[in-house]
Amino acid sequence: MKAVILEAYNPEERLRVADDWPRPVRRKGEVLVRVAATAVNRSVYKTATGFIPRFMAALPKVPGGDLAGEVVEGDEAGTFQPGDRAFACVDGWRPEVAWGTYAELCSVPAAHLARIPEGVSYTDAAALCLTALTAFQALKAARLQPGQRVLVHAAAGGVGSAAVQIAKAQGMQVVATASAANAEFARSLGADQVIDYKQQRFEEVLAGSPVDAVIDTIGGEYERRSLQVLKRSGTFVNLFAQFSLWPIVKGKLRALLRLGPRYETLFVSAGQDMQQVAELVAAGRLRPHVQAVMPLEQASEAHRMVYSGHTRGKVVLQVRAE
Ligand SMILES: NC(=O)c1ccc[n+]([C@@H]2O[C@H](COP(=O)([O-])OP(=O)(O)OC[C@H]3O[C@@H](n4cnc5c(N)ncnc54)[C@H](OP(=O)(O)O)[C@@H]3O)[C@@H](O)[C@H]2O)c1
Repeated sequence: MKAVILEAYNPEERLRVADDWPRPVRRKGEVLVRVAATAVNRSVYKTATGFIPRFMAALPKVPGGDLAGEVVEGDEAGTFQPGDRAFACVDGWRPEVAWGTYAELCSVPAAHLARIPEGVSYTDAAALCLTALTAFQALKAARLQPGQRVLVHAAAGGVGSAAVQIAKAQGMQVVATASAANAEFARSLGADQVIDYKQQRFEEVLAGSPVDAVIDTIGGEYERRSLQVLKRSGTFVNLFAQFSLWPIVKGKLRALLRLGPRYETLFVSAGQDMQQVAELVAAGRLRPHVQAVMPLEQASEAHRMVYSGHTRGKVVLQVRAE
C-alpha cells in the first residue's frame, strides 16, 4: 500500500513515500480503516527529533496520528462494521502502535474511534482529531463552570480554534491571543476578547482581572506570564509546545505543594471523548477551519507549512478522493 515513512531520527524530518509498504494486520480489539484523510500535527516533528523518547517511537514507522476514513474490517465486538465512517486520534508514537495514519490503511484500537456525524466530510473530520480532542480534554482538565473565564493562547491555531468553540459551547467566557490578522477569525469562533499578542502584552491587558484557566499551546515565557494572570484556584494546562520537561516537573511540584495553581498535561487518545467531539460537531457547535488540503505525497511541504507556526486551523493530507 502507499504510505509515508519516517525512517530515521533526524532534525530535518526526512520523509519517504513508498508504494509497497506492507498492509497493517488488524489485531484483537482493532478496526482496519481505509484512510481518506489525515491531518498534520507537530508530533511527527517531535518524534523525528527525539523529543518524544525513542523507546516510545521505534522507527521506521508510518507517521501521523489523525485519521478519517471508512471501516473495512470491524472489531470482534462489532462496535464498528465495514462501511462505517469513523475518525480517531491514534497514539502513533507508542511502540506497539506500529502503523500511523499517513497511509492507505491503518489499524486502530476500536476504543480510539468515533463515528463521523452525517454530512461531515472526511477532510473536516480529519481536521478535528488530535486538536479538537486535545481542546476538549484540556477544558475537561480545567474543570470550569459556565461563566468562568479561560485564556486560550494561539486561538487561530488547530488546538486554539477548537478550544475557543468548545469553551463557548460549554458556556465559558473566552479571552484569546491572536495576531491582528486573525483577530476577526478568533471573534468569529466565539472569543469574547481578543488580545493582539504582537501589539499588547496579555498580562498587562488582564492585570486586575485574572482568569480561571489557561490553555497554553505556546509555552516558554508564555507560561511564566500566564501564571501572573491565573487565579490561584485556577488551572494551567501545558500542551507541550516547548521541548522541555522541566516546566512540567516544576509546575506539578508547585501544585502538589500547594504553592501554585493546578497544573495539567495531556496524553490520551480516547474514543469516548472523541464521541463527545463528534456530538459538538453534529450540534453545529464545533466546526474545523481547513487552511489547505494537500495530497499525501506532499507531506513534507505540508509539514513545513504547519511548522511556520502561523497556519490558521488545520492542514489536511488527502489520501483518497471523497
Ligand atoms: N496532547 C497534547 O499535549 C497536545 C496535543 C495537540 C497539540 N499539542 C501542541 O500544542 C501546540 C499547538 O498546536 P496547534 O496544532 O494548535 O498549533 P498550530 O495550529 O500550528 O498553531 C498555529 C497558530 O499559532 C498562532 N501563534 C503563533 N505564535 C503565537 C503567539 N506567540 N501568541 C499567540 N498565537 C500565536 C498563529 O497565529 P498568528 O498567525 O496569528 O500568529 C497560528 O494561527 C504544539 O506545540 C503541539 O505540539 C499538544
